[in-house]
Amino acid sequence: MKPSVILYKALPDDLLARLEDHFTVTRVKNLSPETVAQHAEAFAQAEGLLGSSEKVDQALLDNMPALRASSTISVGYDNFDVDALSARHIALMHTPTVLTETVADTLMALVLTTARRVVEVAERVKNGEWTKSIGPDWFGSDVHHKTLGIVGMGRIGLALAQRAHFGFGMPILYNARSHHQQAEERFNARYCDLDTLLKEADFVCVVLPLTAETHHLFNADKLALMKPSAILINAGRGPVVDEAALIAALQAGKIRAAGLDVFEQEPLPVDSPLLKMPNVVALPHIGSATHETRYNMAACAVDNLIDALNGKTDNNCVNPQAVNK
Ligand code: GLV
Repeated sequence: MKPSVILYKALPDDLLARLEDHFTVTRVKNLSPETVAQHAEAFAQAEGLLGSSEKVDQALLDNMPALRASSTISVGYDNFDVDALSARHIALMHTPTVLTETVADTLMALVLTTARRVVEVAERVKNGEWTKSIGPDWFGSDVHHKTLGIVGMGRIGLALAQRAHFGFGMPILYNARSHHQQAEERFNARYCDLDTLLKEADFVCVVLPLTAETHHLFNADKLALMKPSAILINAGRGPVVDEAALIAALQAGKIRAAGLDVFEQEPLPVDSPLLKMPNVVALPHIGSATHETRYNMAACAVDNLIDALNGKTDNNCVNPQAVNK
């Protein structure tokens, strides 16, 4: 008999067929207590779980005693209680490689749109304000040859550094848990402590996962270190930046602009002061959201679940030690 799995995200037809070749699939719309109660037997029997953007915590796991592997269609896994999964020897699989280049493109897009005020001036054109040759009140600031600070030098940070170095001639500063030899050798990136990076960078790009350590790392004190001409870009996780402190810094003109793909609360509440600021580009968490990359992520997550339920956790597994015990 095929193992049972719960699918809580829509998949392209061919990937659903691949999943169904291996497993008996129960499709559910989310992981809310109501949904779990409605499909209690399927949750109780499921050995696998596949989807994204839902909380997987103790309470859910208590309803899934047979679970052996959970596969998320994302690189980030801050919505999973990893300790609880590991304590039960449940593998947590994710998709760390397939989205790297696309997210780096999103970061570069935020650098360009904030510096050159692309969204703001395009809106002004649509509003009929382009009635004569433009003056300095439409000007932005240069991107090429400005200093890019990257906080978090993982795969995505490295792909951003590549674009900035080769494409835009930007000197690169970075801060990470340890030195990154490849970044230094290939892109001439200079390691520095976070405060130095914040003081020197023209663009501060945050590419950090959300952990207890990174929560509100960018608070009022840190933002105060940035140059008034500098721009903050966040495409990691919203709560890494203290949003109230960021709003205050923007309102007081302490930094020039912000490009944000992630927020403390998503979707961003429509009454957020950020949406009133012309110097803020707010995106709906589109980091990896291209047709190609979202397909590749879903395919990777399906394969990860097949692998994990076959006992293969050497690739894309967050907690291999806990599983292989
Ligand atoms: C996107 O934010 C992801 O974690 O894949």
